[in-house]
Amino acid sequence: MARKRVLSGTRPTGRMHLGHLHGALTNWVKLQDEYDCFYFAADWHALTTEFERTEIVKPAIREMVMDWVAVGLDPERSVLFVQSEVKEHAELYLLLAMITPLGWLERVPSYKDYQLQTGRDLSNYGFLGYPLLQAADILMYRAFGVPVGEDQVPHIELTRDVARRFNNFFGEVFPEPRALLTKESKVPGTDGRKMSKSYGNAIELCEAPDSITAKLKTMMTDPARKRRSDKGNPEICPVYDLHKIYSDAGVLQWSAHGCRTAEIGCLDCKGALIPKVVDSLAPVREKRRYFAEHPAEIDEIIADGNRRARAFAQETMGLVRAAMKI
Ligand code: TRP
Ligand code: SF4
Repeated sequence: MARKRVLSGTRPTGRMHLGHLHGALTNWVKLQDEYDCFYFAADWHALTTEFERTEIVKPAIREMVMDWVAVGLDPERSVLFVQSEVKEHAELYLLLAMITPLGWLERVPSYKDYQLQTGRDLSNYGFLGYPLLQAADILMYRAFGVPVGEDQVPHIELTRDVARRFNNFFGEVFPEPRALLTKESKVPGTDGRKMSKSYGNAIELCEAPDSITAKLKTMMTDPARKRRSDKGNPEICPVYDLHKIYSDAGVLQWSAHGCRTAEIGCLDCKGALIPKVVDSLAPVREKRRYFAEHPAEIDEIIADGNRRARAFAQETMGLVRAAMKI
């Protein structure tokens, strides 16, 4: 029996960190039990913003896939591939462009938000087309579901609209995919803001224990606790947010109570967290070390994924060309 298909992608722009792990990858790993999964490096998408330093993208792909396998994505069960290695994505993007009203793309909120936030001039055709390329990625695998965060929902909606329009024009080819929302697990960075490489507040998955320890020791806490004797509020403390991910009910209770009463200091509190973070990443470091010694294996995993993705994509393009009579 064929299983339903799930697809998701990440832009390769740097090392994977705890935000990626708890925000996406853990969920991706779980989905493997229930679905046929396609996970890919969206390197063309990365170029829409990294066009002035394209050289970072290719090395980041290998690093990213190493992290994926190290956290438990299984290259036998899941198809791990690179977008630019499956040229069919570009063909489908072009064909979908013929039936996509410009207004649909101009309306996508991330388009304006990103420019406003970064202050960059991204009035390029490629950036405008970003969500349509994403629609092509998804429709190519006739995916049932797309595991993504809240911020990507408008892109999935656009994908559904484009699928419907294509089916209306040319006949039923594409199922309308749904977003499988990753439940919001808040991963703060060391400065209390959302963990992000661009903020420089991230803890990377393959980071050395010493470095993780140092970063967590100096991580921001409730600013009200200037001295050991000051009482704090765990609910506004980013360290406590990490405890919620890593610690059991007993420790949570101990930490919250100790914080509110000043019975424990922040270093005690962090002391209970640090080994949990460090130890939980031990298997990742182990697998990374293995790949460092067997670099050809990761290349073979990617090459195999590319082959499997390409085979599926060629089948879809056969349907598309037949439907469009070209
Ligand atoms: N836009 C996604 C992000 O920034 C990456 C992406 C590209 C993607 N193509 C996709 C995600 C297809 C899901 C499905 O995270
Ligand atoms: Fe945060 Fe823990 Fe310090 Fe309270 S004791 S402020 S929860 S680090």
